[in-house]
Amino acid sequence: MESLDSFLFEEDRLKFSRNNENIKLASKQDSWKILIVDDEEDVHAVTRMALRRLVFEGRNMEFLSAYSAAEAKEMLYIHSNIAVILLDVVMEDDTAGLSLVSYIRRKLGNTMVRIIIRTGNPGQALEEHVIMDYDINDYREKTELTTQRLRTAIVTALRSFRDLSTIDALNLEIEDTQKELVFALGEIAESRSSETSNHVKRVGKIAKILASKYKLPDYETEILRLAASMHDLGKLAIHDSILAKPGPLTLEEFATMKAHSEMGYEMLKASKRPLLQVAAIIAHQHHENYDGTGYPQRLKGKEIHLYSRIVALADVFDALGNERAYKAPWPNDKIKDYIKEQAGKKFDPHIVTLFLQNFSAISAVREMFPD
Ligand SMILES: [Fe+2]
Ligand SMILES: [Fe+2]
Repeated sequence: MESLDSFLFEEDRLKFSRNNENIKLASKQDSWKILIVDDEEDVHAVTRMALRRLVFEGRNMEFLSAYSAAEAKEMLYIHSNIAVILLDVVMEDDTAGLSLVSYIRRKLGNTMVRIIIRTGNPGQALEEHVIMDYDINDYREKTELTTQRLRTAIVTALRSFRDLSTIDALNLEIEDTQKELVFALGEIAESRSSETSNHVKRVGKIAKILASKYKLPDYETEILRLAASMHDLGKLAIHDSILAKPGPLTLEEFATMKAHSEMGYEMLKASKRPLLQVAAIIAHQHHENYDGTGYPQRLKGKEIHLYSRIVALADVFDALGNERAYKAPWPNDKIKDYIKEQAGKKFDPHIVTLFLQNFSAISAVREMFPD
């Protein structure tokens, strides 16, 4: 689990190159994969014959055969990009075909492959809700599907598969772009002060580890990782003369500096996007202390949002362990002692416990993304 966590950024990069692969996969030289699932030998031969030399968008068909639902599952495991399934209903048992559809849509989460059901038992009509619920794209009696109709049905299915794949690839692209923009913004904000660009990555990553140890669901830990990178966004609004000042700040300058929490919140709060709403909360509260002595609202204990309590610790941990203009990096033991000592004061004691329990995974993040 931890090592999976640790390679999250690596994973993001892989995902990106995989997307490019997907786009390549849709190029001309590849054929459309059609999976025929039927327990009758003849049906396979007849189908291949009927669809012979069918070309859609310059690409040929490649036929795969499975003679039971169990074999079809294997095929789906081996071939990730099947476009259309021609599916029999009665095989191992009376509803093997339908169970397979449920397996594909629910268990595999494959919502792309187009499914055409061909039943040999006329009169055994599928209920409408089954067709709707499982996104079955066509339902025909075998005798009804003449060669011409079968070819038309396949072309219609391929057209819709192509559109779905394009939309899917685009969505992934947009999502990845958004993630990168979020980090870029966070980095810009940090680079104006003494922080280095990897600080925001590390804080996000460490916050994610703490959140998953807190047993938040994966989706939430990922939102938190991204949102945490914007904790100091408000520094964009602080003047350089204060941000980059080499010596200690005057009281007045410090008060101005502190305003970055409020300003970050103001920049983000209007958005309806869940990610930016979380980012707004974190920007606002990441300098609150558990005992109520922080700023800007002097919130106390659970009044401080869980996300902010997590990021507050991740932020301080990372700042202490790395070199800053005003200090050398602290050794691990000194950091641990300090954070332990601040349980219930600066930090939520429960999060301090999780931090200490997972110290090696957390400090490994620093080695992975050094300054
Ligand atoms: Fe801050
Ligand atoms: Fe920070």
